[in-house]
Amino acid sequence: MKLRVAITGAGGFLGTALMRGLLASGAEVYALTRRPVGLPGVSWHAYELGGHLPAPALFENVDAVVHAAFSMDGSGPAQEQRNVAAAQQLHAAARRHGRPFIFISSMSAHAGAISSYGRAKWASEQILDPAVDTTVRPGLIIGPGGLYARMLATLRRAPVVPIFYGGTQPVQPVGLADVTAALLRILGQPLTGVFNLGSLQPITIRALYTRMLAAAHLRRPLLRLPGDLTVRALRVSERLGLSLPLTAENLLGQKQLRAFDTAASFARLGLIPTPLDELPWGPSSS
Ligand SMILES: NC(=O)c1ccc[n+]([C@@H]2O[C@H](COP(=O)([O-])OP(=O)(O)OC[C@H]3O[C@@H](n4cnc5c(N)ncnc54)[C@H](OP(=O)(O)O)[C@@H]3O)[C@@H](O)[C@H]2O)c1
Repeated sequence: MKLRVAITGAGGFLGTALMRGLLASGAEVYALTRRPVGLPGVSWHAYELGGHLPAPALFENVDAVVHAAFSMDGSGPAQEQRNVAAAQQLHAAARRHGRPFIFISSMSAHAGAISSYGRAKWASEQILDPAVDTTVRPGLIIGPGGLYARMLATLRRAPVVPIFYGGTQPVQPVGLADVTAALLRILGQPLTGVFNLGSLQPITIRALYTRMLAAAHLRRPLLRLPGDLTVRALRVSERLGLSLPLTAENLLGQKQLRAFDTAASFARLGLIPTPLDELPWGPSSS
């Protein structure tokens, strides 16, 4: 029987790749997005985070709900509450109809997170029941879009690469294709619990930027800057309405990065993550 999957954030970087993967495997896709997605064969349902949910018939008709949308609008507690409330609302609808709920979280999610993003992801994870729901925590997704493409674009414009909090914090990049493959496996079973998707060995932020610069054929000095002081300066400039390529949120996210065990997740999925050297780092794909 055809797998039928509803996806929020379907028009985004990860959502689009997932839709394509599902369509290629013969599944039916229901995109829950603000604007129609231009992929043939996809059924569109208007969806705004925290707004009215699609009619109950949609949840009756699908085998699983993937929640990939996340609103970066605003900041602080308001942003956090909006995202957590939306996850709660969607999860409750999936649960009412007995449908598995797959939440796209992040490696920023942990109990001690101080960024609004990390806190919102962690709080949303707490809503889920690991016996019936699935949490997917990707590291930095390498591919032609999302945060990685934005970081590359910022690197191209910046004369230096600022390094905060020493630059030794761990990051676990993962290929877009690996995250998509993992989601297809999770949906196909379905598999429940928590999946950490990132490189088996973490690299430091400093090593990440060095790799990105090399891939983009850029020469930029890495400049160590004080993290907390910069957060305070950024907060002042944000209150003044100045738009900068870096936000206080970005830095708080960097301050508390943690390494996760990803080997067990990939083993459970029966997948081997693409080695770091083979990920699509270059701007040619962005
Ligand atoms: N990219 C990464 O490195 C990475 C790493 C870890 C976790 N994640 C998580 O993966 C998920 C997908 O991220 P992505 O990289 O694909 O980012 P993305 O391209 O920005 O996709 C985010 C999606 O959320 C939707 N969205 C935002 N605000 C919304 C609202 N108010 N109502 C309805 N939809 C809204 C956007 O819709 P519009 O198209 O209408 O703007 C967009 O399609 C997110 O939950 C993100 O936190 C990403």
